[in-house]
Amino acid sequence: MNKAWWKESVVYQIYPRSFCDSNGDGIGDLRGIIQKLDYLKELGINVVWLSPVYKTPNDDGGYDISDYQDIQDEFGTLADWEALIAGLHQRGIRLLMDLVVNHTSDEHPWFVESRKSKDNPYRDYYIWRPAKPEPAAHPEPNNWFSFFGGSAWQYDEPSGEYYLHLFSRKQPDLNWENPQVRAEIYKMMDWWLQKGVDGFRMDVINLISKTPGLPDAPTSNPDSPYQWGGMYFANGPRLFEFLHEMKEKVLSKYDVFTVGETPMVTPQIAADLTNEQTGPLNMVFQFEHMGLDSAPGASKWEYKPWKLVDLKQVMTRWQKGLEDRGWNSLYLSNHDQPRTVSRFGDDGPYRVESAKMLATFLHMLQGTPYIYQGEEIGMTNVRFDTIEDYRDVETLNLYRELVYDHQADPAEVMEKIYRKGRDNARTPMQWDASPQAGFSSHLPWIKVNPNYPTINVRRDQVQPDSILHYYQKLIELRKKYPVIVYGTYELILADHEQIYAFTRTLDAECLLVILNFNQEPSLFQLPETISFATSELIIDNYEVPMEETIKKIHLKPYEARVYQLR
Ligand code: NOJ
Repeated sequence: MNKAWWKESVVYQIYPRSFCDSNGDGIGDLRGIIQKLDYLKELGINVVWLSPVYKTPNDDGGYDISDYQDIQDEFGTLADWEALIAGLHQRGIRLLMDLVVNHTSDEHPWFVESRKSKDNPYRDYYIWRPAKPEPAAHPEPNNWFSFFGGSAWQYDEPSGEYYLHLFSRKQPDLNWENPQVRAEIYKMMDWWLQKGVDGFRMDVINLISKTPGLPDAPTSNPDSPYQWGGMYFANGPRLFEFLHEMKEKVLSKYDVFTVGETPMVTPQIAADLTNEQTGPLNMVFQFEHMGLDSAPGASKWEYKPWKLVDLKQVMTRWQKGLEDRGWNSLYLSNHDQPRTVSRFGDDGPYRVESAKMLATFLHMLQGTPYIYQGEEIGMTNVRFDTIEDYRDVETLNLYRELVYDHQADPAEVMEKIYRKGRDNARTPMQWDASPQAGFSSHLPWIKVNPNYPTINVRRDQVQPDSILHYYQKLIELRKKYPVIVYGTYELILADHEQIYAFTRTLDAECLLVILNFNQEPSLFQLPETISFATSELIIDNYEVPMEETIKKIHLKPYEARVYQLR
């Protein structure tokens, strides 16, 4: 397997609105990030993925961009951005910008022009269609639903047509069939690369090619006029062609790190997308493990308890599916997902142990790990009393649709939001125990999680056995042991319902990873097939008795151990 810096990296994701506010307006900003660069350096990460900081009406947390080449006032200026990238580079940290080009904001000048008239030169930058020809109760051009609820089409009065928006109605989808659109995007990417960015995280990049004719989706939900149309817009017919073109025209000219966000991707498609010789990207974000706690075929809001054996199956399919063929990105949370420890661990009595166990899991798999801000101190989900305290468009749309349109019980809807709402990840970063968690001197744009007096960076910095120090150690180990980056993965004890265990092997190097995913003690018994002469513990989240043999281990709640076998 070839070595590459982006395989050896650990990425830290910053959601700028919630990271650190330097000017006391309650909104995180670029100067705030600059104040925390030494913190990032100490953590040991070497790549930052910065969620969007471009000009935006902020309908969807900045994922609705109205100018790709300028910075949102609340975040600062281009000069601040220059200072940020210089500060990162001085510390040996590279910067990935978020590339959001499946759609723009409806306030982007291209769309402002496009909606002016049917013969405007920008009309074809977006996807416009007339109503269905035959009279229908739902006259939209097709029956697709939007990810954020309701139809994926918005009627536009002046020209009497609809435009497609897979996300909010303020996020019209760009028409990638139009070569001019693609040329504009490549030019913009080149502009950022010339400014020194080290790569891109590409927002829903596998949705850019839609099936011609935009066919109606089959009915999966008979109770709704709007259906899941993913089969006609995810991994579409020209996806590879577009991405190869992007690679040829832009990416191949630089030494860049690219990660595509790719909902509905399969290991086969991912292997093709990330094939080192022939693929257009370095790695992708898959979503199968994020789907384990929702009912099959239902929306993410329909909760079902997840099972460890399913997690093992999914992760193993991805580990083996990309082995020697592509490359995995490893994540358990981001700005769209609930907090890791609340979702896959325990955010009560075993918060610290389970956060460390989950971190061990993430960092010991093959692939490039991503840490989402706050994960490194075990930040948890939040339960605000009222919907008024929530900010996310997806969450607010859900509440409106269920409570106002369908008279659902508000308390039940709030439970869904507590479990899966995106604002769980977007409460301000908890820096210390001072008011507003040290995030801002002002009331923040979204409330701080009330647990900040006990869960914060300062506290973790002074406690030697904190989650933060554990993350530092994991990152150091990655630098020391090539087997953590490059070793092949083998699952053991596939059917065990509490323990996830696997080995990583690179030539004569072998690691044994043992994780108790349960709040009860569990008995680990080493399979006979694993032979070794000596074993050395390289990390653990409890004090381990010296004399214990690894053939039989009584694991404590959420215990994690990694051994080097020789
Ligand atoms: C994925 C982003 O991560 C999410 O935050 C956003 O709402 C959608 N794409 C639309 O851009």
